[in-house]
Amino acid sequence: SARPRLDLLVLPGDGIGPEVVREGVLLLRELEPSLPAELHIREGAIGGAAVDEVGDPLPADTLSAALSAGAVFLGAVGGPRWENLPAERRPEQGLLRLRKEMRVFANLRPLRLPPELSFLSPLRLEILGEGGLDVLIVRELVGGIYFGEPRGIFVEGGERVAVDTLRYREEEIARVVDVAFRIARTQGKPLASVDKANVLASSRLWREVVEAKRAEYPDVPVRHVLVDAFAMDLVRRPTAYGVVVTENLFGDILSDLGGALVGSLGLLPSASLSEGGPHLYEPVHGSAPDIAGQGIANPAGMLLTVAMFLRHTLAAEDAASAVEAAVFATIARGRVTPDLAEACRRAHASGRCPAPEVLSTAEFGAAVREEVLRRV
Ligand code: NAI
Ligand code: MG
Repeated sequence: SARPRLDLLVLPGDGIGPEVVREGVLLLRELEPSLPAELHIREGAIGGAAVDEVGDPLPADTLSAALSAGAVFLGAVGGPRWENLPAERRPEQGLLRLRKEMRVFANLRPLRLPPELSFLSPLRLEILGEGGLDVLIVRELVGGIYFGEPRGIFVEGGERVAVDTLRYREEEIARVVDVAFRIARTQGKPLASVDKANVLASSRLWREVVEAKRAEYPDVPVRHVLVDAFAMDLVRRPTAYGVVVTENLFGDILSDLGGALVGSLGLLPSASLSEGGPHLYEPVHGSAPDIAGQGIANPAGMLLTVAMFLRHTLAAEDAASAVEAAVFATIARGRVTPDLAEACRRAHASGRCPAPEVLSTAEFGAAVREEVLRRV
């Protein structure tokens, strides 16, 4: 066939990472014949798994394969087994380095619950509104306090002092803000820029850069919100927000809050976009050591991440929407992994959800594939 070839690098990682990645790959293989590119999938080592194998959480061959791939999928890294390693050999450092080397500066984290799944949210129906939850967090991913120098624990005057540095160059702010503006324009949504400009110098520069960008997007309504006020607002009136752009650490914390708003961290996908290089696709959750190895992890976040790949790397919008609809329809039928069972049981008691049928990771993945095939 004349389809172009696309090389995918899949990095399962640790804990539930391999369990959810397996479902993502099965879904990709199922969709492959109808996609605009021929997918060639290979696996690589990262995180604790790579530390065990070769003593390095980001082996050189994994990094070079990632940089030359058409797209990279990642499960999750980390776990108690590797917690006491020196900082540079911890699994999480491997992931931070991968993001940095791939220059995937714009991390898109949609918080979405369609109205028929409102019962999963701890928020009341009248707060969620008729459209359900639909907020996109755009998190800066390769700058800020996770990377700034100097950093470390030093001895000063006989006691230990810890230092982290929150540092942003103008250009690092401008490029992620530009992505957020572009998406807000395309989706016809307002943009909120979240910062701490009343205290932090980096946030004052952030605000100035947003103000300057505004001229290029006069059609996009913009406001600045302080991060503490935003945390409260996101819970009290999420419908006030469309696209939200923020720096690395704030975005990390706020998207876990988002996980609580949709009912499970296991539901959240993400896409980390570079400029010109391959994008990195990973669910928002971590390696979940508390449930790893039991076959009960929710793969929905990974499957929705596959949808983001279809949209952002392949521009296969129909396939992307079909995957999203299939994931949401499966859950709406009450076919859920254990993390959603309790919410479903409560909703069933009030007639908002069919009696839950609790599925394993693999069963949920298969149910979604079956639904998708009916839609593509
Ligand atoms: P976590 O996201 O792994 O788990 C938090 C809670 O959510 C746990 O109770 C877990 O069981 C639940 N959960 C997460 N994903 C789920 C899923 N798909 N289905 C059902 N339940 C799910 O965060 P935690 O426990 O703080 O961190 C565990 C390890 O993961 C640590 O080593 C941490 O550093 C690492 N981590 C890695 C990330 C990544 O690879 N991107 C992101 C966050 C944490
Ligand atoms: Mg986090």
